[in-house]
Amino acid sequence: MEGTDFAALARIVLRVAHALAAALWLGSGTFLVVALLPQRRSSPAASETVRTAQERFRRWWIASSAILVGSGVALMFDRVADGRGTATYLGLLGIKVVAGLVALAASGGLLPRPTRPTLRPARSAWRVPDRIVLALGALAYLLGVLLSVIYPPDPTAGWR
Ligand code: HEM
Repeated sequence: MEGTDFAALARIVLRVAHALAAALWLGSGTFLVVALLPQRRSSPAASETVRTAQERFRRWWIASSAILVGSGVALMFDRVADGRGTATYLGLLGIKVVAGLVALAASGGLLPRPTRPTLRPARSAWRVPDRIVLALGALAYLLGVLLSVIYPPDPTAGWR
């Protein structure tokens, strides 16, 4: 296989991985915040069930976050390096990347809290509300789709 074919294949794999991880992250985060977390207030048993669900979901949440950052950084360098980006494209991409990074960095609040806080962890200086985390994630999602539609990658790049 020629080097250019490999580049094209890598680009497809990165975009598919990014899109799948984005769907998993945003879909599950929305379900968690809208449907699951409010159940914690209904009874101690429900609270425990929610905690178990969060615990079981933890590795999916961390994996999708890691894939989003890894593939996102690679896609960002790829898109910026093709030199076709207008100022509008670069501006929107900058907003998208910042929104995505802040959403991912602040999403730790969606993971289960420790059951026995014997050694109280240092209280973080800032805690972004769950719905704001989702809104930033949704903004990153929408801008990602918008950018890839308005400024599609050169379809011939990699197959030349
Ligand atoms: C909550 C976090 C994020 C979500 C939900 C998200 C979602 C998406 C979606 C749905 C796309 C469109 C995929 C396609 O049609 O090919 C996309 C594209 C992209 N994302 Fe993300 N993303 C997130 C975080 C990030 C991060 C952290 C970075 C960079 C560090 C990043 C960089 C990119 C780039 C460069 C593109 C391609 C844009 C283009 O086609 O011009 N994303 N993203």
